[in-house]
Amino acid sequence: MFDIATAKEVLKRHGQEHVLKFYDELDDEHRKLLLRQIEGLDFDMLDGFIEQYVLNPKPLEIPTKLDPPEVVPAVCGRADEATIALHAEAKTRGEELLAAGKVAAFTVAGGQGTRLGYEGPKGCFDVTPVVKKSLFRVFAEQIRAAAIRCGETIPWYILTSPVNDIPTQAYFRQNDFWGFDPKDVIFVQQGTLPAIGFDGKLLLARKYRLAVSPDGHGGSLTALRRSGALDDMKSRGIEVISYFQVDNPIVRAIDPVFIGLHSLQSAEMSAKCVAKCDPLEKVGNFCVVDGKVCVIEYSDLPDELAMACNDDGRLKFSAGSIAIHVFSRDFVERLTDGGLCQLPIHRAEKKVPHIDITTGEQVLPPAPNAVKLEMFVFDAMQLAKNTVILETLREEEFSPVKNAEGTDSLVTSLHDQIRRAAGWLERAGVPVPRDANGQVAAALEISPLFADSEESLTEKADPSISITPGQNFYLGSKGQIGGA
Ligand code: UTP
Repeated sequence: MFDIATAKEVLKRHGQEHVLKFYDELDDEHRKLLLRQIEGLDFDMLDGFIEQYVLNPKPLEIPTKLDPPEVVPAVCGRADEATIALHAEAKTRGEELLAAGKVAAFTVAGGQGTRLGYEGPKGCFDVTPVVKKSLFRVFAEQIRAAAIRCGETIPWYILTSPVNDIPTQAYFRQNDFWGFDPKDVIFVQQGTLPAIGFDGKLLLARKYRLAVSPDGHGGSLTALRRSGALDDMKSRGIEVISYFQVDNPIVRAIDPVFIGLHSLQSAEMSAKCVAKCDPLEKVGNFCVVDGKVCVIEYSDLPDELAMACNDDGRLKFSAGSIAIHVFSRDFVERLTDGGLCQLPIHRAEKKVPHIDITTGEQVLPPAPNAVKLEMFVFDAMQLAKNTVILETLREEEFSPVKNAEGTDSLVTSLHDQIRRAAGWLERAGVPVPRDANGQVAAALEISPLFADSEESLTEKADPSISITPGQNFYLGSKGQIGGA
C-alpha cells in the first residue's frame, strides 16, 4: 500500500495535495482508507478527464446527418406474415441456446437510486401489487421460470456498487436466493470515479474519503471483465448475456425471441425499443450515424429532429431506448480487452456534498458544484459490428420505478402491472372485473413461476377462475389462488 510520502508525491505531481489536508488529524484506520483510495486512482487518466470534461468541456457535437434505424416490429395486431415467421424462427433459436446452457442473465443494480429516495439497494424495493415482492424477487422468479422451462441453469450476474454490494448480498442470503443455487448468482462490483469540483480539484466526502460515485451502467462491462465474471461465463459455456436494469418489474428478463433474433442475425449487441409516446419523451433515441446504430439522449436531440415526421405522419425517430439488451460474450471481451473500456465518458453537473478544505466543515451545496463522470452502456451499440433492434410494446415490457412520485413511480408501475395482468387474463378467457370507465377493478398479480408471459398464461390458466371486484387476486407459482 502507498505510504504517506508516496501519496504526497503523487498528489503533488497532479496538483491534488489538498486531499491530504486533514491527514494528520485522522486515526490509523482512516489514514489507511484514504491512502488506499488514493492508490486506487489512475491519476494520468484523471488528468485527461479533468482537462477534457471539467476545465475545458466542449459542447457535445450532434452529427448533422442522422437517420432512423431499422427496427424488427413487434408481433401484435398489425404484424405481417414475414414478421410472424421471423419471430417464430427466433424463438426456436433462442430456446435452443437456452437449452444448451449458453445464456446468462445480467441485472445492473449499481445505481444510486437518488430519485426514488429508498434507503437501501433499489432491488430490495417492494413493487408488486398483491404480494409486495421486491424487484430482485420478481427477476429471480422470472429467471428460474425460464431455467425450469429450458431444463438448464441460467446463471445470474448482478452488478452492485461499493455502496450497495454488502446489503444486496445480505438480502439474497436472507431470502435463500429464492431457490437459486448460490453459486449461480454472481455479484460483480462496479468501479467508481471521483467527483471533480469545477476548479478541477477532487472533493473530499469526509476528511478520510474522496467523494466518488459509480462509473455508470457502462461501467458494467469493465466490471464483468475485471471481476473475472467474463471468465466465469466462458467456463460455463455462456455465449449470450441478457441485460436489464433493476428498476423495471415488467421486463422480460429472459426472452427467447429477443435472444434468438440476436443470434440469427449474428449481432454483437441488440436492443429492445418502444415507440415513443411523445416526440420529446425522456428516453434515448435510436439513430443511425455513418451506418452505425447509436443512442442519442433526449436532451441532446434537437427538437426539430425529435419532432420530425415521415410522409405518413409517423415520427421519424420513434424508437425509444428502454435499456434492455442482449450482448454476445465475445463482444464484451473485445470491448474490454486489456481491462480498459472503450466507451466514451459523459459529464453531468451535480450538487456534491463535500468537506470545505479551508474550514473542515461539511458543505451541502445549493447549486451544482462538481462534475460527475459516467459511461453509458448504450454507447456500446456503435462499437458493435452488427446490431438488432426489436420493437416491443411498452405496456408489456416497460414500466420503470425511478421516482418517488409522478411519472415512472411505484404508483404508475403498479397500475401498469395490474393492467398487463388483466390483459393476459382476459385474453386467456378469464373474466376480469372492470369499472364503468373500463379500469381494472381488482389488484391482480401473477407469479412469474406460474406464467412469465401471456403465452404461458394462455396455456395454463383455467378460464373458470373468478375474480371479484375489489379483490386482491394472486395467481401463485402452482396456479393456486391467493390474496384476499
Ligand atoms: P439510472 O439512470 O436510473 O440511475 O440507472 P440510478 O442511479 O439508478 O438512479 P438515480 O438517477 O440516482 O435516481 C439505470 C439503471 O442502471 C443502473 C441502475 O442501478 C439502474 O438499474 N446503474 C446506473 C448502475 O448499475 N450503475 C451506475 O453507475 C448507474
